[in-house]
Amino acid sequence: MSVWRPVDRFAEGVRRDQGAVRVTAERERALIGAAHRPVTVVSLRSDLEALGLAPGATVMVHASLSALGYVVGGPEAVVEALIGVIGPTGTLMMPAHSGQYTDPGSWRNPPVPVDWVETMRESMPPFDKAKSPTRMMGAIAEYFRLAPGVRRSNHPTVSAAAIGPNMATLLDGHSLNQGLGEGSPQARLYDLDGRILLLGASHANNTSMHVAEYRAIPHDHPLLTQRSPVIVEGERVWVDHDEIDEDNDFASIGEAFAATGAQRSGPVGACEAHLMGARALVDFATRWLHRHVYG
Ligand SMILES: CC(C)(COP(=O)(O)OP(=O)(O)OC[C@H]1O[C@@H](n2cnc3c(N)ncnc32)[C@H](O)[C@@H]1OP(=O)(O)O)[C@@H](O)C(=O)NCCC(=O)NCCS
Repeated sequence: MSVWRPVDRFAEGVRRDQGAVRVTAERERALIGAAHRPVTVVSLRSDLEALGLAPGATVMVHASLSALGYVVGGPEAVVEALIGVIGPTGTLMMPAHSGQYTDPGSWRNPPVPVDWVETMRESMPPFDKAKSPTRMMGAIAEYFRLAPGVRRSNHPTVSAAAIGPNMATLLDGHSLNQGLGEGSPQARLYDLDGRILLLGASHANNTSMHVAEYRAIPHDHPLLTQRSPVIVEGERVWVDHDEIDEDNDFASIGEAFAATGAQRSGPVGACEAHLMGARALVDFATRWLHRHVYG
């Protein structure tokens, strides 16, 4: 029996304070102390333009706030700079993954005590794209998913958030099965030949590589069946979905891709950022995986 109940006071809308950045005065002192100068909306815009981010771009951003140095205005400033550069004809997308919406009985990192599992299954709130928090996506992505006008796709564990003219194309057909495969926002980014920007993040976080995995695996390759709690007609139900469960070395693929010269790298704030075409990256990774892993 389910003991989950909807919370009425959220019915009017999303709580806007959910995107608050976790920081202590001591940590802020250290960030300021380590910086030569503050990173601002203006300096971020100029760095992003120098890197090659252009007006009208459709871009998927994987980001770390602390890697940028001390940012005046935190996540809001980063999002403002990105939107400022791509302009009204550009579309900004970020991952909004929420891996916590899975069966606790399957958790391994960390596992939960076996005698907790039933209680957790019964009481776990379902994924709700309007209010479920992201997990491990960082303060910028969490701020972004809550920003006015941003839309989120409807996948319980690997959703994406976007704003701009291409947001419906990117997000609306997100398939429940193989959520990072051909029915994913990343695959639509490929179709649009969008950009991928690693902003203090590495290729290990480059989720478009999963599209390449789906393209490279043999048709009969086993997938992992995950269970997630979602809302159907006001009720919480658990749904099954099949997802890829590989442990491919995205960092090495990214290194090999960078060596082809197809990626532009340069300073943004205190980090070295990387900008690339989604199509070039996915095609390269698919070939690499065929050759080195699934060939
Ligand atoms: C995991 C990850 C988000 C961690 O990055 P992070 O910078 O440590 O964390 P956040 O981006 O959440 O930002 C919070 C940090 O910014 C710091 N911070 C707070 N205010 C700040 C400011 N104004 N300027 C700069 N940093 C600030 C916080 O103190 C905190 O750092 P701390 O934990 O060392 O104290 C990052 O490494 C990453 O992987 N990003 C990509 C995620 C992704 O796209 N994943 C896709 C699927 S794998």
